[in-house]
Amino acid sequence: MVFREPLEEIIRRRYSVRTYNGKPIQKQVQEEIVEYIKSLSSPFPAKPSFKLIETDLSEGGARLGTYGMIKNASYYIVSQVTDEPYAIEALGYELEKLILFLTTLNLGTCWLGGTFKRSEIWRALGESERAFIPAITPVGYYERKDLRENLIRGLVRADSRKPWETLFFDGDFRALLTPEKAGHYAFPLEMVRLGPSASNKQPWRLVRESGRYHFFEQKTPRYSDMFNFDMQSIDMGIAACHFHLAAMEKGLGGKFELDAAPQLALPENTVYKFSWIPD
Ligand SMILES: Cc1cc2nc3c(=O)[nH]c(=O)nc-3n(C[C@H](O)[C@H](O)[C@H](O)COP(=O)(O)O)c2cc1C
Repeated sequence: MVFREPLEEIIRRRYSVRTYNGKPIQKQVQEEIVEYIKSLSSPFPAKPSFKLIETDLSEGGARLGTYGMIKNASYYIVSQVTDEPYAIEALGYELEKLILFLTTLNLGTCWLGGTFKRSEIWRALGESERAFIPAITPVGYYERKDLRENLIRGLVRADSRKPWETLFFDGDFRALLTPEKAGHYAFPLEMVRLGPSASNKQPWRLVRESGRYHFFEQKTPRYSDMFNFDMQSIDMGIAACHFHLAAMEKGLGGKFELDAAPQLALPENTVYKFSWIPD
């Protein structure tokens, strides 16, 4: 097993937690998190960095602004990347692996790409350089979802996922890949399908061809215009993470290659990202 419990249980249990109870995380657990951060790596040629920071929830304290999305979180993990190829995918991969680890510790998290104030994070980090921070997540113990949280979930239909026939294809984008046809790979594919994504858009599309799995991003038109980077590339890193961990857990050997695009006619707004090459 990749974690101390089956991956599928962790992936199914994780959800975007937006209501925390503000209780402190014990020092020993914080140290465990920092150690785990040191162990993170990804198949992509860029190295993001992560910091666990504490915020002051007291009246007048320096809380981090999340436009009302997050309530009562005392800790955040802040990611930073340099501007290089696959930096965003690497961040998506590594932060999602960390989020799954935090889920095993019964700590809640919520990917935040859009709704947080970067200026307040820069201030909290106290660094003079304004680092590129694509995403952060609160970390903490949590409470039952309140009405506000359920309303936010309803807006993005957070509990639903697209069906296999929208996401997975066989040979080219015209033929569907069913779980029966995917055989042992039905599991990694299902774990991709269950992943979180920005506004729950689920941009991942996979095509199996000669036993390889090619990952494509179906960009939501104009979605990333309001950011200065492609937010949905994070989702693709998350997809790579879920696929890879699921393959590892089932003993399916292979590796990711970045330059193995098949010659295929692509649907509109769809771009090639990377491929899984089985052993
Ligand atoms: C890259 C990325 C960015 C996200 N940004 C935000 C955000 O800014 N604010 C927010 O409330 N949720 C954000 N989310 C959470 C998604 O809305 C959520 O993952 C999705 O609706 C599915 O719900 P679930 O995570 O509970 O399964 C983001 C998720 C991802 C993967």
